[in-house]
Amino acid sequence: MGEGISLHFVTRGASSSVYAIDEREVVKLFRPAVSGEMIEREAWASRRAVELGMPAVASLRAVTMEDARGLVYPCVKGRTLLAAMRKRPWLSGRIMDSMARLQARMHETPATSGLRYLKDVLRTDIIYGPGGSALKVAALERLEDMPEGGQLLHGDFHIENVMVDGDDLKVIDWSKAALGDPAADAVRTEMLMRFGDGPEDPLTVLSRDWAARRWRASYLRASGMDRERLDAWRPLVALAWLRSRKPIRQRAFEHYMKDAAGKAGLLR
Ligand SMILES: Nc1ncnc2c1ncn2[C@@H]1O[C@H](COP(=O)(O)OP(=O)(O)O)[C@@H](O)[C@H]1O
Ligand SMILES: [Mg+2]
Repeated sequence: MGEGISLHFVTRGASSSVYAIDEREVVKLFRPAVSGEMIEREAWASRRAVELGMPAVASLRAVTMEDARGLVYPCVKGRTLLAAMRKRPWLSGRIMDSMARLQARMHETPATSGLRYLKDVLRTDIIYGPGGSALKVAALERLEDMPEGGQLLHGDFHIENVMVDGDDLKVIDWSKAALGDPAADAVRTEMLMRFGDGPEDPLTVLSRDWAARRWRASYLRASGMDRERLDAWRPLVALAWLRSRKPIRQRAFEHYMKDAAGKAGLLR
C-alpha cells in the first residue's frame, strides 16, 4: 500500500485486527498464524454470498500492510449483535429471532459450487481430532450416510459475525465457509452460542444457554426444519469441533456431546 495511509484501530477479532481506512472502508489485518488459504476462502465466499443474494459484506480487495495480509471491506456503520444485546439486553430475544430468521433465509439459497464441502472438512477433523476411537469410527460411518448438500454455509455464524446495518443485518467473517447441508450449519451455531469463545461466568452461561434455546426454536419455526435433522448432525459437528475448540465449559460440552451421540445412536 502507498505511504501516508493512517489507520484507526476499530477492534480485535479472534483472528485479526480491524482498522478504519476512512469513512467508507475498513481493513481486516490477519494474524500471522492465519493461512493464505483461509484468507482466500473468506474473500471468495463473502463475494459469492452477495452474488447469491445473501446479506453479506463482500471483500473489496486483498492488501499487504507491513507484512500483514489483509482484506478491505466496506465499513458497516452499526454494531455487532453482541454489542446490540449488551446495549439493549431486553431486546435479546427479538435479536435472536432476527438472527435465526436471517440464517434460515440464507439456508434457502440454491446449491452452488466452487468451494470445499463441509462433509470433507468434518471427516478430516474427526479423524485427526481427539476422542475415543469407538465413537470416532461410529461417527465416520454415520457421516457417510448424511446428505452432502450444496448450499453455501457460513460455518461461523454467531453474534459477533452478524452486524446491524441500519434496518438490516449483515454477515461478516466468511473464513470458515463450506458447501453442505444447512442443518449442519445451524447446529454449529447452537454450539458456538453455548460453548464458543466468550465469557463463561455462571450468569453469562445461563443467558447463553437461554439465547441458544430461543435461537433454535426460532430457527426451526423459520426454516420449517424438523429438529431430528439437527439431532442427526449434532454429535458429528461436535466431535469435529474437538479438533480446534478451546476448552470453554469443557465438562458441559462433553456432556452435550455424549448426550447428542446417545440420541443419534452412536454409543452402542
Ligand atoms: N466491514 C466491517 N465494518 C465494521 N466493522 C467490522 C467489519 N468487519 C469486521 N468488523 C468488526 O471487527 C470484528 C472482527 O471482524 P471479523 O471479520 O469477525 O474477524 P475475526 O475473524 O477476527 O473474528 C467484528 O466482530 C466487527 O466488530
Ligand atoms: Mg469474527
